[in-house]
This record gives sequence, structure tokens and C-alpha cells, in this order.
Amino acid sequence: MKTIAVLTSGGDSPGMNAAVRAVVRTGLGKGMKVMGVMRGYTGLINGDIFQMERYNVADIIQRGGTVLRTSRCDEFMTPEGQQKAASILKAFHVDGLIVIGGDGSFRGCLALEKLGVKTIGVPGTIDNDLPYTDYTIGFDTAVNTVLEAINKIRDTATSHERVSVIEVMGRRCGDIALHAGIAGGAESIIVPEVGYNVDDICRSILEGKRRGKLHDLIVIAEGAGGTSELVKTIREVTGVETRATILGYTQRGGSPTCRDNMLACRMGYKAVELLAEGKSKRLVGIRHNDIVDIDTEEAMAMSRVFDKELYKIAEALA
Ligand code: ADP
Ligand code: F6P
Repeated sequence: MKTIAVLTSGGDSPGMNAAVRAVVRTGLGKGMKVMGVMRGYTGLINGDIFQMERYNVADIIQRGGTVLRTSRCDEFMTPEGQQKAASILKAFHVDGLIVIGGDGSFRGCLALEKLGVKTIGVPGTIDNDLPYTDYTIGFDTAVNTVLEAINKIRDTATSHERVSVIEVMGRRCGDIALHAGIAGGAESIIVPEVGYNVDDICRSILEGKRRGKLHDLIVIAEGAGGTSELVKTIREVTGVETRATILGYTQRGGSPTCRDNMLACRMGYKAVELLAEGKSKRLVGIRHNDIVDIDTEEAMAMSRVFDKELYKIAEALA
């Protein structure tokens, strides 16, 4: 493996930069030529590729976002777009491509593998929605961002004796809501994997009021849907002042936590090791704190198992 390339794709996540840095420095350390691809698959199709040196990744470990930029690329979804991307990699004599992204980006890896491109995937997404790995790069930072917001919202909700409904990201996955909700002491956590009964929520709010509770925090994952209807129903049924906060893109930014950067460093290093060993069509993950790799097709066929134990803890502590 003489020349490798790296790109970031899909929604950005804190720690992507640390992963890019790890790939570049590990590759250079092994005597490889490392190419950076700008704007994910869009840059690949357009040949937006440059040679990376150590200084290109200096001073980025602490920065959120991705210096390689990112995109969602419709053209790459077509066989023509994929063929263009594979031809570009051939023209730049790239022997292996490291893709830092989520499940969509990894499906892109499989498409490229079919065209003879060697790929390794590194999980970069705040959603933590990949079944083959315990954690993805960016999840911990996002959860901490949400936790900080919950703690602030709690202050004002208590002062006004209000119900606060806080909507968080995660696509179809409830992990951000579950983890931040437990750590933030939310009264209810609503995730798409479980669903909810609005009557139960209203009953619990009224019971809380009777016990003298000053606030009620409800964390809802975007994938569960219906935040505004939920707020409206709570107001109508309980008569308690209820406000919604949609945290949105604030969850995608910010300096990565130690945990995310450590994960990124370990995973970026592993991705290059795999290519150096001549392996491809693999995804890097973490299980029980060990860095692992798994066949990309196998990983993509897995279904995500929701952590029911954690959900039970959330219910017990609410
Ligand atoms: P993520 O990687 O975070 O899940 P997306 O789902 O938006 O983000 O995927 C990122 C990009 O990966 C898409 O814009 C597209 O270019 C590519 N991609 C997604 N799904 C596929 C697929 N089934 N086949 C080929 N490429 C795909
Ligand atoms: O996958 C990361 C994520 O932030 C999801 O949580 C969210 O649903 C989505 O991306 C938002 O995507 P976009 O940046 O295209 O609005």
C-alpha cells in the first residue's frame, strides 16, 4: 500500500478532525503518501484531491467540524457517479480509501469495493446509530452538549414551574436522548425504539405537580417525531405551561471531548494499519473498549439492538 486517501462524508461530527489527523500521521509514519479528498464523495467525483503532509493536520485535534469538509452527494448514488469516483482514485494511483462517516457513507464504500477500490470505514456520526460498534466518533461530545443544555433549561423550567420538552438529534436512533436524558435527570425520555403514550406522560406530569415538583423535563429524540403536537397536548391536558427547545445543529459542533478524540485517534490509526496489512472492505469499531474491525457487508446487514437495560434505568430513576 503506497498511496492512501481519506475523506469525511455525511453529517460532520466532533472528532472527525482528530481521526483525519490520525490517518495522515500514521500513514506518513509508515512511509505512505496520504491524499486528502475535499467534501466527501462530491470532491471525489470532482477530483478535489490534494497531498497531505504533517502540517496539514497541525492544530486541528481540538476543532469540531471537519477540515476536509463534508457533503451529502446525490451524484454518488448513481452508478455513473460511483464509476467516476473509482476512475479518479485510479488516476491518482490511490491504493486504499479511508471513509470517515455514517452508514450511508459506508454503503458508498461497498459501491466502490464493487469497482475494485479498497476501502476502510471509520464511524463518524453523532447519532451512535451503527449496530456493529458500541460508540461512534462525535456521540460523546453531542451528548455532553445536550447535557449542558438540559442543565440550563432545568434552571429556567424550575423558576417558572414549567414543563420543558427538549428535542435532540439522532435520526432514527434514540441514543443521544437516552444517554443525555439519564445523565440530565429527565423525567421522561422518548425514543423511537420504544415510542410513548401521551396520556402516561400527562399523568406523570400531574403526579409530579402533586408531589411538589417544580419542573418536568422531557427529552425527545427527533426520530420519535411530533414534538410540537406533544407540547400542545401536554398544555391542553395538564394546563401546565409547556415550552419546547429544539437543540438542532448546536449538537454537531464544538471541541471534541477527550473520549471522542481518543476514539478518533485509536480508530484512525487502526484504519491505516488495516490497509497496511492489505485488508479492505472492513469497518473499524469499538466493542468493550477494544478497537475491532468487521466486514463492511456483514456490519451493514446487522440490526441495531436498543439498550433496554439502560432504558429501564431511565424509567427507574425518573
Ligand atoms: P451518513 O454517512 O452520515 O449516514 P448519509 O446517509 O447522508 O450520511 O450518506 C453520505 C453520502 O454517502 C450520501 O450523500 C451518498 O453520497 C453516499 N451514500 C449514501 N447511501 C448510499 C448508497 N446506498 N450507495 C452509495 N452511496 C451512498
Ligand atoms: O446524522 C447526523 C445528523 O445530525 C442527524 O442527527 C440529523 O437527523 C441529520 O444529520 C441532519 O442532517 P442535515 O445536516 O442534512 O440537516
